[in-house]
Amino acid sequence: MQSVQSVIKCKAAVAWEPNKPVTIEEIEVAPPEADEVRIKIVATSVCHTDLYHLFEGMHKDGFPVVLGHEAAGIVESVGSGVTEFQPGQIQILWEYCTIITLLEDPDLSFTQGDFSNAMSPLRSRLTCKGKKVYQFSGISTFSEYTVVKQINVTKIDPAAPLDKVCLLGCGICTGYGAAVNTAKVEEGSTCAVFGLGAIGLAAVMGCKNAGAKRIIAVDINPDKFEKAKVFGATDFVNPKDHDKPISQVLFEMTNGGVDYSLECVGNVGVMRSALESTIPAWGVSVIVGWTTLHDFSAPPGDLIAGRTWKGTMFGGFKSKDGVPEMVNAYMNKKLMVDEFITDNMTFDQINDAIEMMKHGKCIRTVLTFTE
Ligand SMILES: NC(=O)c1ccc[n+]([C@@H]2O[C@H](COP(=O)([O-])OP(=O)(O)OC[C@H]3O[C@@H](n4cnc5c(N)ncnc54)[C@H](O)[C@@H]3O)[C@@H](O)[C@H]2O)c1
Repeated sequence: MQSVQSVIKCKAAVAWEPNKPVTIEEIEVAPPEADEVRIKIVATSVCHTDLYHLFEGMHKDGFPVVLGHEAAGIVESVGSGVTEFQPGQIQILWEYCTIITLLEDPDLSFTQGDFSNAMSPLRSRLTCKGKKVYQFSGISTFSEYTVVKQINVTKIDPAAPLDKVCLLGCGICTGYGAAVNTAKVEEGSTCAVFGLGAIGLAAVMGCKNAGAKRIIAVDINPDKFEKAKVFGATDFVNPKDHDKPISQVLFEMTNGGVDYSLECVGNVGVMRSALESTIPAWGVSVIVGWTTLHDFSAPPGDLIAGRTWKGTMFGGFKSKDGVPEMVNAYMNKKLMVDEFITDNMTFDQINDAIEMMKHGKCIRTVLTFTE
């Protein structure tokens, strides 16, 4: 490692343009400025939101960019005004200043309603080949080092394995919190979860831990059902097996609709199906999946009947407190995390990890940096 306040040259995966593989480049990471923290990333994973930027949203103005927003690492140095985190020797930082990156700061993350504008090139602390590179969501964890606002990091139990709890930086907290914090699933209720990636599986786990008696897992990829069972799903529905609308299938299965539904796909058609799968009088449907490509719509009568349609960001967690609590729940064996990890790879294999997620071949792949 170079001296604490110098520019750090390190390896990062740069997405130069939409719809192309990322390339491993040497980048420069500037020292942290006021209220910023520079972090050595230890483990990171690919979330569908990274894929969304690369393959679906494809806003040309959002490139070049270093993607990645779900990670754990170690504080390397801090800017002025940072008191919560301490710079110092790497061994001490390993022990006491473990951090996890978060999508928390609205200024950095979503003010533009679009991940591509998360951090302007001027504010980015990353440069490659003389060019400023966007920091995805103001974070960019597909890099050996990154600089983030201190509000985007939180201390966790130093004993927690970073190559596991990195998943609590986004996916697991989002799905789990969507069920327990946003939907507020009640004991004995019936739930439906649409989409069984990490977000949806975590939502299943949230429904189960909240005491739901029936959890219907819906996905067009039946390979996901076995895993959903592990997290507590009781029924499995593949929309491709049915000619009628999926809301009707669920209506018939439950004799009137589910109490809670969670959309974890990012598809406005599925959002409407999820809403219409809930019981008219008191059903609650939560939009978790992300898209800016289309507006959602439904007949007003769907809501007038008494349903509630909500959205959730990061599962409604207050991240500074919520993430350490989730880490503790994992350490106390009250929360599954290992079960989400289907693959472990080195950072150089990042394009393989991206392709696997694109083709529904994994839940989460954890990428670690080799020295
Ligand atoms: N709200 C937030 O704070 C937040 C945070 C992180 C991710 N997200 C979003 O959550 C969504 C899920 O992320 P992920 O990482 O779990 O993705 P993923 O790609 O791993 O999983 C998506 C799942 O949806 C399934 N699916 C696709 N079309 C479907 C359909 N028509 N009906 C039923 N299932 C269908 C896929 O087979 C897959 O299993 C994405 O849109 C992501 O951007 C939101």
